[in-house]
Amino acid sequence: MSVRPLIAGNWKMNGLAGESAGQIKALISKANEVASLGCDILICPPATLVGQLAEQAKGTSVAIGGQDCHAHEKGAHTGDISAAMLKDAGASYCLAGHSERRTDHGESNADVKAKAEAAIGAELIAIVCVGETLEQRESGKTLEVVSDQVKNSLPDGATATNTVIAYEPVWAIGTGKTPTTEDVAEVHAHMRKELSTLMSDAGSVRLLYGGSVKGSNAAELMAVEHVNGALVGGASLKAEDFWPIVETGL
Ligand code: 13P
Repeated sequence: MSVRPLIAGNWKMNGLAGESAGQIKALISKANEVASLGCDILICPPATLVGQLAEQAKGTSVAIGGQDCHAHEKGAHTGDISAAMLKDAGASYCLAGHSERRTDHGESNADVKAKAEAAIGAELIAIVCVGETLEQRESGKTLEVVSDQVKNSLPDGATATNTVIAYEPVWAIGTGKTPTTEDVAEVHAHMRKELSTLMSDAGSVRLLYGGSVKGSNAAELMAVEHVNGALVGGASLKAEDFWPIVETGL
């Protein structure tokens, strides 16, 4: 089954208004040069820039998403942002359960599931992130950990249209290290199999790989079976670095 790839950038806590506008402008102009794009393009900037960049990218083939949302629609949660607010600001996607959130904010699978449900409830596409630590990989627990995260973080009502899964081994994030393509193939095939017990359209769910993706390794990672796109951190900050990765999805 052919699945339209998604090449997504996660800017994390990087980006001020002026420089970010320039990067989005450059990305849009690259995308505009392609007659018919074969993939979806997404940038998840910090929440402060979602509105501005969504306005700038309106009507183009670059989508804007949030990096996190609260599980509730509104209320007394100082400092938090709801999925409805991201939607209102022009976002069309939202990450849930990035490993930095799981680690820095102690988010459990149940928290991630609630956030992903809030995202799809607000008509955003949820990108649920999973991935093992180095210790878990070295003790042979990778598939077990990923299965547990997929099963327990997947939102109720998940479909291939409203949910994306991103496999990001924690030890590969920001380290320059990547798993072998065989290891990526094993985990992605495993996730597809796991999803097939949970969803009727599991074959069409986009499974992204993330962790030290760059222009020089994107093509081989994207060629792995069941890899339907990438979630890119550092190499998504500049359009000139991100574009060669997007090209592997075209
Ligand atoms: P890097 O591409 O910087 O390794 O980050 C990956 C990531 O965490 C994307 O969400």
